[in-house]
Amino acid sequence: MKIAVTGATGRVGSRVVELLEASDHNVVPMVRSTGVDVVTGEGLTTALAGVECVIDASSGSARGHQRPTPEAAAEFFTASARNLHEIGQKAGVHRIVGVSVLGIDRFTTGHGAAKHTHEKAVLSGPIPVRVLRAALFHEMVPQLIDWGTQGEVAHLRRMRIQPVASRAVARALVDLATDPAWAASPKRSERPLPEIAGPREENLIDLAMLFVARSGLPLRVQDVSDPNDPDDKIWEDGSLLPQPHAMLAGPTFEAWLDSDDANPAA
Ligand SMILES: NC(=O)c1ccc[n+]([C@@H]2O[C@H](COP(=O)([O-])OP(=O)(O)OC[C@H]3O[C@@H](n4cnc5c(N)ncnc54)[C@H](OP(=O)(O)O)[C@@H]3O)[C@@H](O)[C@H]2O)c1
Repeated sequence: MKIAVTGATGRVGSRVVELLEASDHNVVPMVRSTGVDVVTGEGLTTALAGVECVIDASSGSARGHQRPTPEAAAEFFTASARNLHEIGQKAGVHRIVGVSVLGIDRFTTGHGAAKHTHEKAVLSGPIPVRVLRAALFHEMVPQLIDWGTQGEVAHLRRMRIQPVASRAVARALVDLATDPAWAASPKRSERPLPEIAGPREENLIDLAMLFVARSGLPLRVQDVSDPNDPDDKIWEDGSLLPQPHAMLAGPTFEAWLDSDDANPAA
C-alpha cells in the first residue's frame, strides 16, 4: 500500500517509517527536507499522488531548547489538518490516521487546548479518519527536562502519567492504517477513540530524577505548579491516565532507558 507519513523524521514518525518499510509498503516521507510543508501546503499535491492513506505524525514542537508557544502550536495544527484534508481529498487520499493525546479534551488553555483543537480539526475533515490517543512518549522526558532547565535546576510539573515508547505507538498507528476491514470500508473514527499507554502509572518527577541520575547530568529536579493555570489540577488528578479500553504496551520507562532506542549509538 502507498502510505504517506507526515513527521517522518520525528519521534514517532521515524518509527512508523521504519515499520512500514520493513513490511514492504510504499512509503512517502513528508517533512520539510523532502520538500513538503504541511503548514503552507507546499509539495503536498505531488507527495500525495496515488497515496491511499496518510499517517499524520507531524508536530510543530521543535526539538530545540525553546518550547513553541501555544499560539504557534495551534496555528501549526489547524493549518496542517486543513491542508491534509483539502489537498488530500483532491489527490484521492482514502484515509488518514492521526495521533492525539490522552485526556486532551480536559484542557482549556495552553498546549493542551491547541492539541485538542488539532484533534477536532483532523476528525471533522472530509476524509475518513482514525485517531489514536497516546500517552506521553518516554522520549519526551529528556525533552521536558531540557525545556524546564534554568541553570542547574530542571523545573517540572508533578504529573500522573503512564508513558509509552514511541515505537509502541508507531506499531499501533501502522496497525490502524493497514487494518484490512477499515481499508475495505473506511468509516469515521470510532468512539471512544482508541488509546495506547505504557505498562504502569508513573510520576514525571520520578522519571526525570531517574533520567538525570542515569545520565549523570549535573541537575536537580524541582517540581513546580502554577495556581493561576485553570488546568493546573489536570496534571495530577488522573486525567492523563488511560481509560479502561486502552491498549497497554511495554517497555516501562526504566527498561526503555536501557534499550537501544534510548541509546542509539550503543
Ligand atoms: N511527544 C509525545 O509525548 C506525544 C504524545 C502523544 C501524542 N503526540 C503527538 O504525536 C505527534 C508527533 O509528535 P512527535 O513528538 O513524534 O513529534 P516530533 O518528534 O516533534 O517531530 C515533529 C515532526 O514534524 C515535522 N514537521 C515540523 N514542522 C513541519 C512542517 N511545517 N511541515 C512538514 N513537517 C513538519 C518534523 O520534521 P521537519 O522539522 O524535518 O520538517 C518532524 O518530523 C504529534 O501530533 C503529537 O501531538 C506526541
